[in-house]
Amino acid sequence: MLTDYERLAGLNKDYLWNPFTQMKDYIDPLIIERGEGIQLFDVQGRAYYDGFSSVWLNVHGHNVPELNQAITDQLGRVAHSTLLGMANRPAIELAEKLAGITPKGLNKVFYSDSGATGVEIAIKMAFQYWQNKGVKSKSTFITMNQAYHGDTIGAVSVGAIPLYHEVFRPMLFPSHVIPYPYAYRHEGGEKMALDATLTALRHLLETRAEEIAALIVEPIVQGAGGIIIMPPNCLREMAALCRKHDVLLIADEVATGFGRTGAMFACDLEEVSPDLMVIGKGLTGGYLPVAATLATDEIYQAFYADYEEQKTFFHGHSYTGNPLGCAVALASLKLMEERKMIEKVEAKAAFVEHKLAKLKDRPHVGDIRQKGLMVGIELVRNKISREPYEWVERIGVRATQRARELGMLTRPLGNVMVFIPPLSSSETELDAMTDILAQSIIDVTEGG
Ligand SMILES: Cc1ncc(COP(=O)(O)O)c(C=O)c1O
Repeated sequence: MLTDYERLAGLNKDYLWNPFTQMKDYIDPLIIERGEGIQLFDVQGRAYYDGFSSVWLNVHGHNVPELNQAITDQLGRVAHSTLLGMANRPAIELAEKLAGITPKGLNKVFYSDSGATGVEIAIKMAFQYWQNKGVKSKSTFITMNQAYHGDTIGAVSVGAIPLYHEVFRPMLFPSHVIPYPYAYRHEGGEKMALDATLTALRHLLETRAEEIAALIVEPIVQGAGGIIIMPPNCLREMAALCRKHDVLLIADEVATGFGRTGAMFACDLEEVSPDLMVIGKGLTGGYLPVAATLATDEIYQAFYADYEEQKTFFHGHSYTGNPLGCAVALASLKLMEERKMIEKVEAKAAFVEHKLAKLKDRPHVGDIRQKGLMVGIELVRNKISREPYEWVERIGVRATQRARELGMLTRPLGNVMVFIPPLSSSETELDAMTDILAQSIIDVTEGG
């Protein structure tokens, strides 16, 4: 007689193909039954801290009464109706709210259902914007080294992580790639990194701006590339260069949005107003799949024309503007305000930084990178030479497995351990989670 866990694990293996997962290695799966606060519980009753906010989504924790209620209330009215040529109450009210909290100038909201589709929309809007204006030559994009914008073909075309993207290269449109600047801690490092980025961008814009529709960037923090933090002023300078050369700026705030970096949006940290902005993940507090692409009035106006002019944006998804998702997003934003979630990030981030400082001198900790509550700890074989671990050693995966044994979930990025706790985490919870994080790193890199 199989246990309930064995039955589910068997069915998982027989019928489910998990994303970003080598199914051959998929053994002893973790099967979640429920969540409470910032903890998840598996079907065997074990508790785990959600140390990566269920892949960078969760804001208020799990099973939050106010968010549950918002969905239940909306469910009593209607679960879904389309946004194609009509609308619904929560989608309209959320659009107004988003226009109010995003950087100035972004007044039009186009919904979709994942970060990747939001990016896809931004790319297509940028492209068609120039077509509609009669500037037919502007058809390529600039992206950044190690960029990640999602897994659909357009998003992969502006992606630059070889492990994920290279196999698809023959079917992608080509993009220009410039270096992502990296805030090194050693003297002069920040300036050097910033110069390399701006020099490359300036050169491209001075020589090829007439071919380029837009630059897409993960503002301030590059997520999947390894939690890389931009030096100060870089984003602002990049935005100014784009403006000067008539190239649109697309800010992909899918990972950085909704407080993770200590501001509502990373663009706010440098008072940058992009032409297009993509949001997702934390938009619904991590509850339901809603994303949005915000556009300026100027972009919107380029599509606003007599039908015969053929300037309509022919794009949409079945579940675009889903009322349940929009209702829970409104409730999540209300809770963020009532609980002053963003104002509290700075103190929580300082606590995490202080706790993780003890890892700095460990022999295999190469770098600790942090912006707000987004943390990446890079593990290296040799601290002095910064020689990396071989990828086949899967040091990040092993440290993550150890963290799971110790009661916390996360997911590494290669040799980088990731810690992105829900914004609602208390100091006591952050204390416990950072202890597990440090212990798992020490056990795996020094444990023999
Ligand atoms: C910056 C960024 N853009 C886009 C995406 C894709 O979002 P989704 O997984 O919702 O498609 C991600 C996901 O991690 C991301 O970090």
